[in-house]
Amino acid sequence: MSEVRIDVHRDATEVTQALRRDVREGLTAEAKWLPSKWLYDARGSELFDRITTVPEYYPTRAEREILRSAAPEIAAVTGMRTLVELGSGSGEKTRLLLDAGTEHGGLRRFVPLDVSSSALSASVDAIASEYPALRVDGVVADFTEPLDSLPGTAPRLVAFLGGTIGNFLPAERAKFFSSVRSVLGEGEWFLLGTDLVKDADTLVAAYDDAEGVTAEFNRNVLRVLNDRLGADFDPAAFEHVAHWDDRHEWIEMRLRALRPMTVTIPGADLTVRFAEGEYVRTEISAKFRPDAVRAELADAGFTLRHWWTDPEGRFAVSLSEART
Ligand code: AVJ
Repeated sequence: MSEVRIDVHRDATEVTQALRRDVREGLTAEAKWLPSKWLYDARGSELFDRITTVPEYYPTRAEREILRSAAPEIAAVTGMRTLVELGSGSGEKTRLLLDAGTEHGGLRRFVPLDVSSSALSASVDAIASEYPALRVDGVVADFTEPLDSLPGTAPRLVAFLGGTIGNFLPAERAKFFSSVRSVLGEGEWFLLGTDLVKDADTLVAAYDDAEGVTAEFNRNVLRVLNDRLGADFDPAAFEHVAHWDDRHEWIEMRLRALRPMTVTIPGADLTVRFAEGEYVRTEISAKFRPDAVRAELADAGFTLRHWWTDPEGRFAVSLSEART
């Protein structure tokens, strides 16, 4: 019999308050920006799922390939009793880890953590019914904020997949790694998916697919502001831009105003003017080099034990151990 619980660390009002703060900060800045987490309402999550199926967007397929072959080793090396997944886990990648963990014998509990309670309850229900022997405890929380504690019996494996770590700025990344380390005991584990530096054409294509799904995903953040804050953005008046920043080695998604505009955002008490051609940065997606990943994890108190890539060397999954 499976046991299901959802622990809500954040309600809808708090989420809207956080959005309001972010919008006020980002859209009054000299160079306008919005945190990428606001791309993911229900429609945004659906659009992202579609992105993972377009031919140009290789990270999801590459990571899945890695996990398909590495999952048994991950389960064996870690002996995980609890799997904590940061970012809702109901996809095939999660199942590969759950299958390996339960077949290996040690896995008893799955803790998906997500900012979206709707995404979370869907994944909790699906996993609980497919894995009746597993205890499933969903946690609604924003993993871009410091983690306070995580449920489950040691050894726990915290998985942060998909290359989402690339959405953090370097300083945020360091804080995030330390925060994960601080909720783990010595000998517990961290599994991290990182997209790797490669030629600019491949990267730009992955973030600007021919079908325009990524463009629609990007513009969706304006609809989120319209829905949640009563803003009057015309998403069609913004063009999708995917820019490879060679110096920082990250892809920057931007929205470019196609004409001068004044937008009102009542829920943020804000009126925002856009010049023609003005950008809003909506996401960075950093790409990594192996030595830097190892060094950043070491700085946070992790020792990298395993490093896997797909056969084409596009994406990496690393397994690190918390040490003192
Ligand atoms: C889900 C954050 C990993 O950065 O590649 C996909 C999001 N943005 N296309 C990424 C995304 C544009 C994606 N992550």
